[in-house]
Amino acid sequence: MAKSVKGKFITFEGSEGCGKSTQAKLLCSYLKKKKKKVMHIREPGGIKISEKIRNILLDVRNKEMTKECEVLLYMAARAQLVEEIIAPALKKGIIVVCDRFLDSTLAYQGYGCGIDVKLIKRVGFFATTGIAPDVTFLLDMETSKGLSRIQQSKDRIEQRSLKYHNLVRQGYLALARKEPKRIKVIEGNDSKEKIQEVIQALVLKALKI
Ligand code: TMP
Repeated sequence: MAKSVKGKFITFEGSEGCGKSTQAKLLCSYLKKKKKKVMHIREPGGIKISEKIRNILLDVRNKEMTKECEVLLYMAARAQLVEEIIAPALKKGIIVVCDRFLDSTLAYQGYGCGIDVKLIKRVGFFATTGIAPDVTFLLDMETSKGLSRIQQSKDRIEQRSLKYHNLVRQGYLALARKEPKRIKVIEGNDSKEKIQEVIQALVLKALKI
């Protein structure tokens, strides 16, 4: 739960091509129709500095980037986004919908790259000042199916092996088992309309809005 704030913080997570961005957009439209103040952002990115960091992280030419550098860059992009956008928006009572957050670093760099998950959580606390999602939707689907949906040329992370992406998926499921109240696992193979219905019902229940 975010510290002393009025707004709500909703995040979408999942491995490549799982459909989380589409679902996040649909949820924002739904909430706007209900006259809620909503903001949709993505990670890494969302603002000037964090988008610049995103470009460095996803650039296929940065082959020599170390895992440690990778973690810290994701955290740096996050720290900037939290302070500049997320924390002020939550203070104003806005519902913030974010495509990815700290769980992505736990899944991709922790479970995927083998960096100590507890250490990532500690650095994550520093980067986020303890702001955490009220509810997280994890869109789960067969890794190979998600990867086959990617149409543009693959970025530095997407280019990793199927084995890596399977570790990420399993990592996400492990996180969901540890925090079942916050992380709701959604079957990503259903139609986008059906998935959205499930998400909307859970948002109304979880956030009491
Ligand atoms: P996107 O494709 O969902 O916009 O995310 C960009 C890529 O960055 C995606 O491959 C997942 C990866 N990623 C991490 O590896 N660690 C992180 O902490 C985040 C936020 C994203």
